[in-house]
Amino acid sequence: MSLLPFFHWLAVTHLGIAMRDSTWAFAIVEIIHLVVLAIFGGSVLFLDLRFMGLGFRSVSAPEMAREMLPITAGGAIAMFLTGFLLLISGPMRYYYNTPFRAKMVLFFSAVIFHFVLQASIARSRTQSDRATVVHRVSAVISLLLWSAVGLSGRAIGYF
Ligand code: HEM
Repeated sequence: MSLLPFFHWLAVTHLGIAMRDSTWAFAIVEIIHLVVLAIFGGSVLFLDLRFMGLGFRSVSAPEMAREMLPITAGGAIAMFLTGFLLLISGPMRYYYNTPFRAKMVLFFSAVIFHFVLQASIARSRTQSDRATVVHRVSAVISLLLWSAVGLSGRAIGYF
């Protein structure tokens, strides 16, 4: 199924035209995209370090997973909303952009993987401090996925 008609439609929406015709909107939204990236990226890093048993040992992994859920979920939603605004400023440019396509696949894979991991640890009732091998490996995969999203985001402008 081709998304081409959807991208064509995005280009003629009021919001798409407003983002494209505005002098400052793209720059302002990209600044917000990067500021949210810093907050979201930091929260994911702290969480995955805890899941690997490499920090924040005074808080149990399930407790930290529960406490950080509003920040990581809110951050992922804010990254999507600001990213979508950047996208609709020039949908056809991004439709044919390979790093952008890779980023979308990586983004949704990272979201599913990370939140399944965080939710499963948040639900666990164990108070043990020992990071299991599954948690360690999953945390490493989560960090690699999010890093790949960031790198592909940076690469968009070069293609
Ligand atoms: C956690 C997830 C995300 C991360 C880590 C991320 C990271 C980045 C980075 C590092 C840049 C480059 C900024 C620059 O060149 O100065 C960027 C730009 C961009 N991102 Fe994201 N992003 C994320 C999610 C999204 C999503 C979900 C979308 C689309 C729905 C998106 C769309 C874009 C677009 C269109 C650009 C502008 C690229 C350009 O024209 O240079 N991003 N992002």
